[in-house]
Amino acid sequence: MAARVAIWVACVLVMVATCQGRLRVGYYHRKCPPAEYVVRDVVGKAVRQNPGVGAGIVRMFFHDCFVQGCDASVLLDPTPANPQPEKLGPPNFPSLRGFEVIDAAKSAVEKVCPGVVSCADIIAFAARDASFFLSGHRIRYKIPAGRFDGRVSLANETLAFLPPPFFNLTQLVGSFQAKGLDVDDLVVLSGAHTIGRSHCSSFTDRLSPPSDMNPALATVLRAKCPANPNFTNDPTVVQDVVTPDAMDNQYYKNVLAKNVLFDSDAALLSSPPTAAKVAAFARGKWERSFARAMVKLGGIEVKTAANGEIRRMCRIVN
Ligand code: HEM
Repeated sequence: MAARVAIWVACVLVMVATCQGRLRVGYYHRKCPPAEYVVRDVVGKAVRQNPGVGAGIVRMFFHDCFVQGCDASVLLDPTPANPQPEKLGPPNFPSLRGFEVIDAAKSAVEKVCPGVVSCADIIAFAARDASFFLSGHRIRYKIPAGRFDGRVSLANETLAFLPPPFFNLTQLVGSFQAKGLDVDDLVVLSGAHTIGRSHCSSFTDRLSPPSDMNPALATVLRAKCPANPNFTNDPTVVQDVVTPDAMDNQYYKNVLAKNVLFDSDAALLSSPPTAAKVAAFARGKWERSFARAMVKLGGIEVKTAANGEIRRMCRIVN
């Protein structure tokens, strides 16, 4: 009898754990029906004003999910108790942008449903919506929700988990695998480098020989970037010179032509299977794969009510 009760209790616990851990499309349909529309509205206005913040938000989603899971830990500001949050880690500061759009979306959502919608879900919706607008509505997908916001945010974890631009293919695959993503996800998600910008400091090591960057692109970039960029002199350039603000498959054409900024982009040609994927996406049909991979990215190490909260303000824990 005791054994039976123990098994029953264990089953209930497992069910609760898996239910809490499972994200759901339409999670806010009952809890806050306007939530997704409100976020889309704010993001649409922001992206129309400045497409660059859309790129920033897509990158923010990646940087949030790879460090402590998709839990809005990237949004937390420094405090006396935690002076070095993720936001100040080298991959994020000063380059990560779009924070004010998330703030605006959160305060608009709080007006209609106070204390209901997590900042982590707002980032996931906002990244989906930025992709929608920047792709001319070609990237459209439903994203499961129900993430809770984390309370831990540490700058030194950013370098441990976010791959730097000089990684080779083996290293990139390793860092994606550590987060449950595979080599296909790596190739598909790298396509986000079809939008946005980079600071010169992220690629100046590739501007002088030996380098496999297209010499014509290297010449253009040498004219725009100082030889030794630093905090006070670090200009930005667009990642995709052909269609800089459009989320399209141009990135893969750029990879094939060696017109990309980072070793990590060029590395996709360094194995026959990844090179074949690049060639296929360069011919077309990337958008659906990207949508699927964004949903997968959004499932990384999601927090529940047991280890998270619904923040009232995205920049500070409750
Ligand atoms: C595969 C490994 C990746 C590496 C090594 C990498 C590295 C970088 C670097 C160095 C920058 C430029 C930052 C700067 O100097 O301003 C950048 C920009 C960007 N990355 Fe990645 N990235 C990777 C994957 C991703 C993924 C998976 C996404 C999203 C799904 C993404 C989205 C972006 C976007 C949109 C920008 C432009 C941001 C802006 O304009 O503000 N990246 N990335």
